[in-house]
Formats: sequence, C-alpha cells, structure tokens
Amino acid sequence: MTSKKGRVFSGARPTGRQHIGNYFGAIRNYVKLQDDYDCIYCIVDLHALTTLDTTRDLRQNTLEMAWDWLAAGMDPKRSIIFVQSMVRQVTELHTILSMVTPLGKLTDLPTFKEKVRENPKNINYGLVGYPVLMSADIALYRADVVPVGIDQAPHVEFARETVRSFNFRYNTNALIEPKEKFTEFPKILGIDGVNKMSKSLNNDIELAATAEETTARVMQMVTDPARQRRSDPGNPDICNVFSLHKMFTPPEKVAEINIECRRAGIGCVDCKRILAANMNAYFAPLREKRRVFENDPEGTWDMLRDGAARASLLAEETMVDVRAAVGLPALQKG
Ligand code: TRP
Repeated sequence: MTSKKGRVFSGARPTGRQHIGNYFGAIRNYVKLQDDYDCIYCIVDLHALTTLDTTRDLRQNTLEMAWDWLAAGMDPKRSIIFVQSMVRQVTELHTILSMVTPLGKLTDLPTFKEKVRENPKNINYGLVGYPVLMSADIALYRADVVPVGIDQAPHVEFARETVRSFNFRYNTNALIEPKEKFTEFPKILGIDGVNKMSKSLNNDIELAATAEETTARVMQMVTDPARQRRSDPGNPDICNVFSLHKMFTPPEKVAEINIECRRAGIGCVDCKRILAANMNAYFAPLREKRRVFENDPEGTWDMLRDGAARASLLAEETMVDVRAAVGLPALQKG
C-alpha cells in the first residue's frame, strides 16, 4: 500500500445483512476514507463470540456483511478487507496486552456494565476482555486513525491507554497510540420511530432488501403519532419518515413535504411511497452489485483470505517488535 495520510483500522461484528443505519453510520464513511488513507477493515468474528449463543450462522453472517461492504464500494484492491480470526497474531497480542490491563478498568467500563445488564447469565472471560482484544486489533496493524461511532469512544480511549501502558512497561515504542475519528452522522431511527435502527430490535431496513420488501417496511413506519387522520396536520420535526427523506429525497422535494405535511396537503401514505421509491432508487446500484458477489461465495472467501494474508504481514512485523520488547524469544533466527 502506498502511504497516504495514515492508516485507518476499523472493525465491525458480523451481524449479517447490514441496514441503512449501518450504511449511514459506518459503511459510507469507510468507503470515503479509502481516498485519503490506507484502510484496513475487519469483520471481527472473535468479538462476536463474546455474546453469541450459537455460531450456526457465523460464517453466513460474515459473508452477508462482506457482500454489503463490497457492494457499497469498500474495495479489496485499495484496502485490506479481512476476517479477524484469519490472522492469529491478534490472539497473541491480546494475551500479552491483557497482562498490562488492570481488571478493574475493564469491569468499570460503561460498555461492559451494559452487556452485563443485557445478559447477566453470560458474563464470560472473553466479554470482560473485549476491549483488550479491540486494542490488539488496532495496535497489531499500527493504525493511527480509528473511525468509530461515538458509542465506541471509551474503547478507543482504552486502546490508547493500553498502548501507552505497554510501551511504558517495556520501555519501547513498538506499538503506536491511535487517534479516534468520530463519524458525524445523523442517528438513524428504526421503523418504530423511537429506537436506534437495529437488527436485534427488528426495526431495520436492510440494504439488500428487495424493492418490494423495502416498500413494505417503509409503509410500516411510525409517523407523528398525533396525526391520526389524513386531514390532521402533521409535524415533520418529530417524524422519522421525514428524517429519512433528508437522506434520500432531493432538497426541493424535502422542503415541499415539510410544508405540505404541516397543512395536511400530503398524507403519510403518499409521503412514504415517495420515500420508498427514492430509497429503492438510491440503493439499486448497490443491490445490483451485491448480486454478483452473492453468486460467488467462494470468490468472496478467497478475497477475505487474500486480505488476511496481507494483514498478516503487517501483524507479524509488529509482533517481531513486541516479542523482542517483552523479552520473549524470536521465532526466526537472526
Ligand atoms: N467494538 C467495535 C463495535 O462493537 C468493533 C471493533 C472491534 C472495532 N475491533 C475494533 C472497531 C477495532 C474499531 C477498531 O462496534
């Protein structure tokens, strides 16, 4: 890779088909960053294991996510795209970093406490160490920029501190401290109009949905609850259909809807039809591209393995320095 402004690393758990919240929150940004940075994008399947009760769909979900990434324009020729578990050094660095990590710092993290609340019956060791594994991801590839949503801020800060502790403890600069880069994006609510769009809440609209499925989902969207009848005026400021129009509909039309909704000049059904049509037009090229990848799962795995092979070279360079700094024996003579 030619060096651009720096090296980006970001990861996402293999949650399967991505939705429009993922698209505007992460994927679109990942695509853009490729112009200015050497980018490494990782499907973090080991992280997924911390909360999965079955791994039955893990591989398929990895593929489905890769297809959405590729279809959206994440480009394996310009970037490294791979699966976390394919580069084994990450588990080694995780173990080494765990020794410079105070346990209390992990159990104090708001993200950990939230997981405990969500699932008090499965508080496994790996879950506690989740941020250590994430630090290993970032440090292993010597990324200097980590684009994430604001919810991941404590984890990136944790990674910075972990790198600092490691370098201090072993009097080295083998690892580099990453900077976070928060993505500015409007929070996309689900079709319930209340919660953040999320697969687990089943309030999402998938990128790969057909035009018919998309339209059906949009028609189910909750609008201004005070607008009961077609003749009632609506309030676009609190309507999620209107929020989404801003992402998909030309500004003049958005301005018109803004006025017409308030004086009941347009009804919710028509307003949704327009949104669905624009959404389908927006994602049509992505969906077409996706079909090509879907028809070649083996080709997709090959692409991911190729990414892993390239990532491994960077990983091994780092680990040579790490092993030396820690005082572990070198794997290669010389
Ligand atoms: N923890 C991140 C999330 O849940 C995923 C992740 C794992 C990640 N490793 C990373 C993000 C490294 C950025 C960099 O979204």
